[in-house]
Amino acid sequence: MMTIGLNASPVVGSSCEMLVRRVLEGAASAGSKTLMFNLNDLDILPCQSCGESPYPMNCFYNDSMDEIYKWLIEGDIIVFGSPVYFDTVSAQAKLLIDRCNCLRPAIFPTGSESSPEGVKFLDRGLKKRKGVIILSGGQRQKFDCARTVIKGFFKWINIVFAGEIDMRGNSLRAGLAVERPELPEVAFALGKMLAGG
Ligand SMILES: Cc1cc2nc3c(=O)[nH]c(=O)nc-3n(C[C@H](O)[C@H](O)[C@H](O)COP(=O)(O)O)c2cc1C
Repeated sequence: MMTIGLNASPVVGSSCEMLVRRVLEGAASAGSKTLMFNLNDLDILPCQSCGESPYPMNCFYNDSMDEIYKWLIEGDIIVFGSPVYFDTVSAQAKLLIDRCNCLRPAIFPTGSESSPEGVKFLDRGLKKRKGVIILSGGQRQKFDCARTVIKGFFKWINIVFAGEIDMRGNSLRAGLAVERPELPEVAFALGKMLAGG
């Protein structure tokens, strides 16, 4: 069992980072191996919308996504955490999400412009993985836009939504989740439960 943490907050010690890490710790307590990525430290090119399927590769470009693809595909639990920036996920999160478009590449039929079949998408037969969403935003944030983006991403690559933790803070100070001690506990319990503990 492998649990992968993807933290899309650029702030060291942020609530987002801490809650992703707590889910991983919970999963580890139930015997899972864990791996955490801070996306801000990675080198991820924005999707170039090549218009061609890179299959059987994941993408025509090689950068930090090479390792992310590996773990997104092979992991059993994916914990995706993002702060809310302008009502949606952070740029760090969006870079990764867009680069996963070709994990379900489009198949353009011959003469697709006029084809009644339209564009189809190749199912790569990715195994089902469990997905956790961690969101961190301001006091009045509803998280609906960011949630829709991450849930759509999960669905696209066959990750089954398995839980969400939302953190509302009232300042830009890092690590506000410690002031809500129930949240790290919930995060730990969720990781433990999903890993079978
Ligand atoms: C560029 C930027 C845009 C933001 N936009 C929003 C927003 O639209 N809605 C919101 O509730 N908070 C917004 N915030 C506040 C962050 O969501 C908030 O500070 C959050 O706690 C960050 O999470 P983190 O500390 O885990 O990184 C924004 C912050 C930044 C830096």
